Amino acid sequence: MRTNLKSSIILALWATFSLLLSFPTPSLQQPQVTPSTGVRLQNAYVALQAWKKAINSDPNGFTSNWNGYDVCSYKGVYCANAPDDSYVMTVAGIDLNHGNISGSLPEELDLLTDLALLHLNSNRFFGTIPSSFSHLKLLHEIDLSNNLFCGEFPKALLCLSSLKFLDIRYNHFEGSIPSAVFDLKLDALFLNNNNFTSTLPTNLANSPVSVFVVANNNLNGCFPAEITKMGATLQEIILMNAGLKGCLPSSIGELNKATVFDVSYNELTGTLPESMGKMESLEQLNVAHNKFYGKIPYSICSLPKLENFTYSYNYFCGEPLQCMRLQDRDDKYNCPPLRPYQRSPEECGAGLSAFFGGGRGGGEGWEEGGAISG
Ligand SMILES: *[C@@H]1O[C@H](CO)[C@@H](O)[C@H](O)[C@H]1NC(C)=O
Ligand SMILES: *[C@@H]1O[C@H](CO)[C@@H](O)[C@H](O)[C@H]1NC(C)=O
Ligand SMILES: *[C@@H]1O[C@H](CO)[C@@H](O)[C@H](O)[C@H]1NC(C)=O
Repeated sequence: MRTNLKSSIILALWATFSLLLSFPTPSLQQPQVTPSTGVRLQNAYVALQAWKKAINSDPNGFTSNWNGYDVCSYKGVYCANAPDDSYVMTVAGIDLNHGNISGSLPEELDLLTDLALLHLNSNRFFGTIPSSFSHLKLLHEIDLSNNLFCGEFPKALLCLSSLKFLDIRYNHFEGSIPSAVFDLKLDALFLNNNNFTSTLPTNLANSPVSVFVVANNNLNGCFPAEITKMGATLQEIILMNAGLKGCLPSSIGELNKATVFDVSYNELTGTLPESMGKMESLEQLNVAHNKFYGKIPYSICSLPKLENFTYSYNYFCGEPLQCMRLQDRDDKYNCPPLRPYQRSPEECGAGLSAFFGGGRGGGEGWEEGGAISG
C-alpha cells in the first residue's frame, strides 16, 4: 500500500513537472524533457520496487542498491534509448543470473514495457509467471532456467511475438507443452528438466528454432516424425530421457544441418534409418540406452564431421568398419559377436524376440550382423 501511495504521489508530481516543462516549448525541440522521458523510468521504479518487496532472500546482495529513482544505476538493470524514441531512456534489460535470489515475480513487472532481455538463470524464484507478462511485447530473450517456477507452461509468453530465445529449463513446470509455442518465431527453445507430460504437438515443424531441447521430461509419446520437416533450421536436437517411444522416421536424414542429435535414454526401437547417412553436419550422435537393433548403416560412421557416436545399451548386431575408426565411440552392451563388454547371446535373443513379438526374426538379425572383431 505504502509503495503504491508513494508512487502515485511521485507520478502526479512527475506529470505536473513534465507538463510545466514541456508546455512552453514544443517537445520536438526539447526531446529530453518530453513527458515520456520520465514516465518510463518512473514506471520501472514502481515495477522494480514491487519486485524488491516480493524478494525474501538475496544472499549475494544483488538488489541491495535497488533504492531511489535512478533505476538505471540498480545492479543488474540495464537502460538504453527507447526503440521508439531515441531521446528517451528506458529499462531494456535485467540480468540477475546466478543471484540465488528467492522470491516471486510480481504482476507489476509488465510496467517494464521496453524490456528486451530478462535473465534470471540460477535463482530460487518460485510461483508462476504473471499473466501480465503478455504485455512485454519487446521481450526478445527470457531465461528463467534453474529456478523453482511451477504450474502449467507460462501462457503469457505465448503472446510475445518478439521472443527469440525462450529458456525455462530446470524448473517444475508440468502439464502439456502448448502447440502455440511452436508458432513463435524462436531461435532457441529449452524446455528440458521439467515435468511436461504431453506428446509433442503436430505443429512442431512450424517452429524455426535452431536449438530444441526437451530432455528430461515425461512426454510418453512417439518420436515426433514431424521433426524431419525442420531440416532448414534445426542444428541441435536434444530429446534425451524424454519418455519417447516408437521408431526414428525413415526421413530423419532431412535434418542435414543438425550438429547434435541426442535421443538417448528413451524407449526407441527399430533400426537406425539409412538416411541418417545424409545428416552431413552431424558431430555428436547419441542413441544410447534405447531398444534399437539391426546393423548400423556404414554411411552414418562415414559422416565427414562425426566426432562422437554413442550407441551403447541397445541391441545392435553389426558394426561396420567405418564405425571402428571413429575416435569417440561407445558400443558397449549391444549384440555384435566378438566385441568386448556386450550383452550375452541369451539376453540379445530375449530382447529381439520381445521386440518382434515372440521370436520371429530375432536370430535373423543376429546372423546378418556383419561381425567385425575389434
Ligand atoms: C543459496 O542460498 C541459500 C540460502 O541462503 C543457501 O543455503 C544455498 O547454499 C545458496 N546456494 C548457492 C549455490 O550459493
Ligand atoms: C513430476 O510429476 C510427478 C507426478 O505428478 C511427481 O511425482 C514428480 O515428483 C514430478 N517431478 C518433478 C521433477 O517435479
Ligand atoms: C561422447 O558423447 C557421450 C554422450 O553424449 C559423452 O558422455 C562423452 O563424454 C563424449 N565423449 C567425448 C570425448 O566428448
